[in-house]
Amino acid sequence: MTTAEWTVRVPTEGSVELPPDSRTMEAIGRNHSFETALADLVDNSIDADATNVLIRFVRDRGRLCSLYVVDNGRGIAPDRIDDAMTVGGRRAYGDADLGWFGLGLKAASFSQARELTVLSRAPGAPAVGRRWRLDEARTGFLCDVVPELFADRELAQDRGLPATGGGTIVRWDQVGGFPATTDERLVERFVTQKVTTACNHLGLVFHRLIERGRVTIAFDVHEAGSAASTSPVTVEPINPFHYHRTGATGFPKDLNATVDGRSLSFRCHIWPPRSTARQFKLNGRPADHQGMYFYRRDRLLQPGGWEGVHAPHPKLQLARVEVEIDSDVEAFLRMNPEKSRVQVRPEFGQACESARADDGSTFADYFYQAEQVYQAGNKRRTSRKPMIPPGRGFTPGLRDTLESEIEALKADPVDIRWRDFDDDQFFDIDRDEQTIWLNKRYRKMLLGDRHGGLNDLPLIKTLIYLLMEDVFQGEYLGSRDKDNIELWKSVLTTAVRAERR
Ligand SMILES: Nc1ncnc2c1ncn2[C@@H]1O[C@H](COP(=O)(O)OP(=O)(O)O)[C@@H](O)[C@H]1O
Ligand SMILES: [Mg+2]
Repeated sequence: MTTAEWTVRVPTEGSVELPPDSRTMEAIGRNHSFETALADLVDNSIDADATNVLIRFVRDRGRLCSLYVVDNGRGIAPDRIDDAMTVGGRRAYGDADLGWFGLGLKAASFSQARELTVLSRAPGAPAVGRRWRLDEARTGFLCDVVPELFADRELAQDRGLPATGGGTIVRWDQVGGFPATTDERLVERFVTQKVTTACNHLGLVFHRLIERGRVTIAFDVHEAGSAASTSPVTVEPINPFHYHRTGATGFPKDLNATVDGRSLSFRCHIWPPRSTARQFKLNGRPADHQGMYFYRRDRLLQPGGWEGVHAPHPKLQLARVEVEIDSDVEAFLRMNPEKSRVQVRPEFGQACESARADDGSTFADYFYQAEQVYQAGNKRRTSRKPMIPPGRGFTPGLRDTLESEIEALKADPVDIRWRDFDDDQFFDIDRDEQTIWLNKRYRKMLLGDRHGGLNDLPLIKTLIYLLMEDVFQGEYLGSRDKDNIELWKSVLTTAVRAERR
């Protein structure tokens, strides 16, 4: 017969062993960023019951060379280390474990570094060490064995973590993102920026565990060959649901759904309008962080996004929903291997559709209410007279607060600065320079024993700004404005003189 015929089974004759090329190591974890990679290592430390995790940048003669993630968890026993280093080497997971794919350590590390060393000790067992190296010249999957003595010495060093008899060091070398420079200022700026972003991410992802005192995470910088390290920066929790007062009564409200015998619960929150809290802004624009916050075993997987339940909209910026993912819920969604997003299945949409609160209300009602609260807050804002925003000389937070409270006029911001005056006037208005000048001769006295700086004396500066901002508006200075300036100058100069006495 000439026509191609389809057979149910493909016949085979024996098999050949085809181990993956070692380059596949470079391909895993491509979606990681520095901070999501660190989060994956912290997951492992938490799974190992560590109370403390230290993330240490190591500098050698000025240049950043390695990164250490050190914990005081239960470590890895000698007979488990090879499994731990295996890509996809899964183990039996407990109910509370954050690990799942048997991939995290390797994927996270190779997304950032070309060498991964793991040194570990389980209490009462000898120290063990392994190293993976991405090396073009090498063929096959060969993992190096690190001598016990080296692992032992490294693990014995005091890095300020409470001793538990066990612990693990994950060390990255040849870190792709590290700058090649030895310039101290550039290195410092790089580290500060990395630590800040990582603190923001880890503080958010692990906020529940940090708040509960389950784990403390800190960063420091260590100069190789010396005993000195910078004082550690501790990761503060950032709880995206931490508002002082709810934006609407009756909230948070639980909406519950059951699909195919599985139940899913949505805790719907409405933030108070115009918040400038860090927990609300999460280092983005207010509208960026609306939506669902998925938690798995108290670790945040995804900060926001509506997952098709609704399109993102500025009017919904106050709406945030807490969703707990337990094993029952895995039918509705899946997390990506980087544990930084979830992928929902069609059943998830059905669950949202059918979700009801005890009072019978639905997601549509929730969205409506969140919008109402936002609009009411906004109305108050737009009924206020717009202002020229503050510029240089003011604390950065002031700009944020004003921005959320009052519409900004499209004009150059008003700066406030110090200069020498010929007389003892406290301040002067300079419309050409769009600047409020303050008389330097009062500066030291007002500062007391505090240090001066560009943004010093925020209270006085803010009060003067609020008083004088409107004289910067309009083409000409009216006679009324002129008179007001004279009045405030005279009154405040008297006041500041009195302060000096
Ligand atoms: N810091 C650590 N402390 C103790 N064991 C660890 C640590 N990091 C990794 N391991 C071990 O290595 C294994 C592999 O880790 P990983 O690749 O992240 O996969 P997963 O966490 O999904 O199991 C873990 O299951 C654990 O047994
Ligand atoms: Mg893991």
